[in-house]
Amino acid sequence: MTRLSSKAGVFSLVLIAALTLAGCQSAPETPEASLYQQLGERAGIAQIVEDLLFLIVDDERINQQFKGMDVASFHRNLTDQLCQLSGGPCTYSGREMREVHADMAITDTQFNALAENLILAMEDNDVPTGAQNRLLKRLIPLYPDVRHL
Ligand code: HEM
Repeated sequence: MTRLSSKAGVFSLVLIAALTLAGCQSAPETPEASLYQQLGERAGIAQIVEDLLFLIVDDERINQQFKGMDVASFHRNLTDQLCQLSGGPCTYSGREMREVHADMAITDTQFNALAENLILAMEDNDVPTGAQNRLLKRLIPLYPDVRHL
């Protein structure tokens, strides 16, 4: 009886090892592809940006800045930008970051508010925390252009 259960134990270990290896093999090869996939590809990113727009409208710290903008074009351009930045097969065709955000006098508080809303939108779409952080890391280099520093 003891021998039988120890055999079963060894079998379980081998099975777990095999499944783990199989899991590794089927994982995407490049980190770029995996971040894009973790965001839910273009459709998932489009949903995140849509949720972000609702959060922006409700956020008193930044909603004034967005008054009167072309919502459809903002949605398309930000979706393409995040898709491209995450390694997806998209090409951002919107305006330069420095040009778009000129004359907005964006403060650190406003920059952080937008980042916070993006995190909330990713949470709502079940994006794993590691993937959230990887996307934020790729947005950080845009900070000086958005803030006009
Ligand atoms: C890393 C941070 C940011 C990124 C990646 C980003 C990205 C973008 C993109 C892709 C567009 C659309 C450009 C186009 O349609 O040609 C845009 C537009 C805009 N952004 Fe940002 N943005 C950032 C931060 C901010 C912040 C902090 C604010 C203000 C609180 C802001 C306010 C706006 C506004 C008002 C527009 C619309 C401009 C217009 O249509 O004339 N952005 N942004």
